[in-house]
Amino acid sequence: MTYLRKRSAQAAAQDDSSSVSVPDYLQKTYTWAYLNPKTVPFLSSAPVVAAILWGNANRLIRMTVAEIEEGQRVLQSAAVYGRFSTDLAKAVGRSGHLDVMDVAPIQVETARKRVEGFPQANVKLGDASIAQTNTPYDTVVCFFLLHEVPEDMKEKIVNAMLASVKPGGKIVFVDYHKPGKLHPLKPIMSKVFDWLEPFAKGLWHKEIQDYAHDAEAWHWTKETIFGGLYQKVVVTRLG
Ligand SMILES: C[S@@+](CC[C@H](N)C(=O)[O-])C[C@H]1O[C@@H](n2cnc3c(N)ncnc32)[C@H](O)[C@@H]1O
Repeated sequence: MTYLRKRSAQAAAQDDSSSVSVPDYLQKTYTWAYLNPKTVPFLSSAPVVAAILWGNANRLIRMTVAEIEEGQRVLQSAAVYGRFSTDLAKAVGRSGHLDVMDVAPIQVETARKRVEGFPQANVKLGDASIAQTNTPYDTVVCFFLLHEVPEDMKEKIVNAMLASVKPGGKIVFVDYHKPGKLHPLKPIMSKVFDWLEPFAKGLWHKEIQDYAHDAEAWHWTKETIFGGLYQKVVVTRLG
């Protein structure tokens, strides 16, 4: 009974998008990137995303999409600029379902336009730090979200995403990672993070699995990309 009551309370919280508000860290740090109607259309274009990721956007998207199977129910935990959502929608196909979630109404609007023409894709207002337990997913993807949030939110998001998959489901985290000592871009990225992305270096000092409350109940595989500047972590439940 207690379990059922807990599940339905979680489900009620999840469905109530009126309780979702734009978090302080987003307003204070990322208005220029995600909340300003004047900059969002420019920044959301594919060439800008390609430049920000040093030409690795397509490769990182391909590596994420490779984890998806046709017919799956997939959650994209936050909006991503460029072609990410449409590639995910194509991967689940007409027999699958993609939920794209974002905590910012302007991003929900932009993402809706992006997936027009893909009836299998739905865009909803929601906070990735709240578990989506109502209708759990086969796969949850968390693409370049963790580096943008403070440490306590990283922990909440990692645990909420783990709680949002079905038994046997999978979570795919793709994000920044501490590059090798001699990586030529390390000093530049260090300055960029200090200037514009103050929460990103958390991922230089901690493994994603260190944010999980019950990491030992899951199987974690980590692959680093582009000299270690990026990482892909795939998580499946053990047993
Ligand atoms: C996932 S990151 C993507 C960054 C990447 N540079 C890109 O290509 O777009 C940015 C998005 O995360 C959203 N976001 C931030 N905190 C969130 C949260 N707690 N829940 C859901 N979305 C969140 C922001 O509103 C923004 O649209």
